[in-house]
Amino acid sequence: MPDIELPVLTDRLVLRRFEAGDLDAFYAYHSLPETARFLPGPPKTYTKAMEYVGRYANFVFQKEGDWLCLAVEGRDRPGLLGEVVLKWLPGQGQAEVGWSLAPEARGKGYAAEAAGAVLDLGFGELGLHRVEARLDELNTASAALCTRLGMRLEARHVEKWFYKDQWATELIYAVLAEEWRAEDVPVSGGNPMPGP
Ligand SMILES: CC(C)(COP(=O)(O)OP(=O)(O)OC[C@H]1O[C@@H](n2cnc3c(N)ncnc32)[C@H](O)[C@@H]1OP(=O)(O)O)[C@@H](O)C(=O)NCCC(=O)NCCS
Repeated sequence: MPDIELPVLTDRLVLRRFEAGDLDAFYAYHSLPETARFLPGPPKTYTKAMEYVGRYANFVFQKEGDWLCLAVEGRDRPGLLGEVVLKWLPGQGQAEVGWSLAPEARGKGYAAEAAGAVLDLGFGELGLHRVEARLDELNTASAALCTRLGMRLEARHVEKWFYKDQWATELIYAVLAEEWRAEDVPVSGGNPMPGP
């Protein structure tokens, strides 16, 4: 895969590599139970947040299993708003997208704008064929985001996961490169990079 040119700019956001200075803001939203509710594991401790920010800051995206991890920041105001990640899955051109925002950054379309830019990057520069999102059926904000991005609901796996002391039903949404290019996705911003 080619080198990834960062930062990526959208109408309102900058997607850039994580830095050590993001730690306190990352910890602030990842230590909240409401952020952790649909993520693996408990709310993050400061030590765990340090591990994540260190890993995200030094990500490489060169082989299956690697994660592309981008910090989301406002163009007009410095400070971490959240993150969007892309995991390289086994198979030809397959990846999984994920996202989290600080509570004060939700409800503004920022996740859709950031994820839209990452899908542009994935289907453009990275040459991906298919990107999926896996989520708990109860995570209605994530499901709405998938729909907003034009992802198709492909599967519903009843009580597939046991986490947070209960069974959870997994939804899988996906979008293909040709669908992404054909779609007039109503998310603002995006990477100006041309398709492959
Ligand atoms: C999942 C998550 C990232 C979604 O964030 P979000 O801000 O709701 O997502 P979007 O960017 O799609 O924003 C949509 C909302 O912004 C509103 N909005 C405001 N201005 C907008 C604009 N210019 N463009 C688009 N939407 C806009 C929409 O109306 C919508 O509001 P609603 O939720 O009241 O209907 C967020 O809930 C989160 O971080 N959750 C915790 C972590 C988590 O669960 N991660 C995912 C695990 S699978």
